[in-house]
Amino acid sequence: MITGNPHVSVTRRYRFSAAHRLHVDHLPDDVNQKIFGKCNNPNGHGHDYTVFVTVTGGVDPHTGFLTDHDALDHVVQEKVVARFDHQHLNYDPVFGKMVTTGENLAKFIWGELVESIAPAQLEKIGLIETRDNYFEYRGERQNTKM
Ligand code: NI
Repeated sequence: MITGNPHVSVTRRYRFSAAHRLHVDHLPDDVNQKIFGKCNNPNGHGHDYTVFVTVTGGVDPHTGFLTDHDALDHVVQEKVVARFDHQHLNYDPVFGKMVTTGENLAKFIWGELVESIAPAQLEKIGLIETRDNYFEYRGERQNTKM
């Protein structure tokens, strides 16, 4: 049983490479081009994404750890990396009606992980898309009682 205030956090880094195209299906091509510029190129383009998963919680008095790194790695590998690595994000079912922006990707990753990392709690998802683009998302936690 891990108790205490959630004043410690741990961040693990993961990577995947994927293609995408920023495009809204129900908008005309010229409007898409105006909104998304070269990110709207019909053939898509790729990114080497870096995902930072930050978890928070109490420190286990026996191990000194906040979370089991292997267990966290397994969950992120299964739910995020294996799903997206070397894929075209626009063809993933979750992006059927959602543009494959970094914002949406960070939010989706939060949703995939938030219930899967107990007893630690998810604090933040960070996502690097390009050298100059970094996204962060802090969503609702299922259980805020610590
Ligand atoms: Ni892009």
